[in-house]
Amino acid sequence: MTQIKLQNFDLDYFLKHHWQQQPCVIKQALPDFVDPIDEHDLAGLASEPDIDSRIVSRQRAKQENQQGEQWQVSHGPIEDFASSCQGDWTLLVQAVDQHIPDTLPLVSLFNFLPYWRIDDLMVSYSVANGGVGPHLDQYDVFIIQGKGKRRWQVGDQGNYQDIFPHPQLRQISGFKPQIDEVLEPGDIIYIPPGFPHNGVALEECLNYSIGFRAPNQNELLSNLSDAVQESEQFKQRYSDANIPSRQHPSLVLNSEIQSLKQLMIAMIESPQSDQLLLQSLSQTTAVEPMDAVDHYTEQQIIEAFQQGHSFLRMSEAKALFQEQQSSDNFIFYIQGQQFCVPMIAKESLLQLFAVDEFNDLNTIKNQADLEFAKIFTILINAGYWYLAE
Ligand code: SIN
Ligand code: CO
Repeated sequence: MTQIKLQNFDLDYFLKHHWQQQPCVIKQALPDFVDPIDEHDLAGLASEPDIDSRIVSRQRAKQENQQGEQWQVSHGPIEDFASSCQGDWTLLVQAVDQHIPDTLPLVSLFNFLPYWRIDDLMVSYSVANGGVGPHLDQYDVFIIQGKGKRRWQVGDQGNYQDIFPHPQLRQISGFKPQIDEVLEPGDIIYIPPGFPHNGVALEECLNYSIGFRAPNQNELLSNLSDAVQESEQFKQRYSDANIPSRQHPSLVLNSEIQSLKQLMIAMIESPQSDQLLLQSLSQTTAVEPMDAVDHYTEQQIIEAFQQGHSFLRMSEAKALFQEQQSSDNFIFYIQGQQFCVPMIAKESLLQLFAVDEFNDLNTIKNQADLEFAKIFTILINAGYWYLAE
């Protein structure tokens, strides 16, 4: 698995002028792009019950006296491709990075953004004229053009009228394009949230969309509350010595509402809630339970390194840690699980977390290497890393 890098891309300029602000096209960001998967792999994923997939198709009126177009949406698992793939159609599959390890380097291209913001890799295959129609997304997305060509139009932010040409298809009624370009293999388009866009395949093509998540208050609070419940912490109770009398028992005083809010604010502001927040951010919802994995001993792992083997990271192993931890231990989270390990292992762990393929531990030189091997064995046995073939 080779780590690839974006070309023709000025990161500082992008972060200053585009990220969350303006869409842009990066021509030949990935020259000589080779698709890590094809439409047959994608169809295989779409037929699986636990994988989120859909086919969106549009049938245009065939005769002149017929009007308009008919949209259809079929949700996976797709059993009968023939009946769903009518007219101009596109097959979209979510979280492909969790199922096809060869696609992980496409997600890692964007490691200049933090793991906690990265959502998943959605891959689509479209026949000529296929697309999901003009729409808005709530998330930032980088769309890599794989094989084939696709015309992308992107408009400006604004108030657009939702239309539903099918009950499960939210589109918008039209926008003035600011970007109107044909993407070729290896080109990338970046679209910030709320910018209307429409991608229409000019020929059969594959697209790789790396989506980012930005929780809203509702999601943040409900995820934090799950972590709080699990943690058995925060048992400070409301109290009201000198409670004021009132004219009606139904009345809740404003000062009481303020005190209750204060109790919750104190919880959110406490140092313990930092850890709970990290714990909940490290959990990606799309993840299924890990398959049964091999059980290695620490010695076997050390030997594997000595023999030159390398280890690959699962896409869901996006470790998170907080800066300025005060303890002697290094604390990090993967999929909601807390790991609290001796500080001497931190440096090697950070190297491990940042790459897709790891083979740096050739010899055990010191206590830090030994400690690292011990923790890495635990992470491998938990299914987060695995031995490359
Ligand atoms: C795609 O069809 O690959 C992307 C759909 C979108 O614009 O979100
Ligand atoms: Co979109």
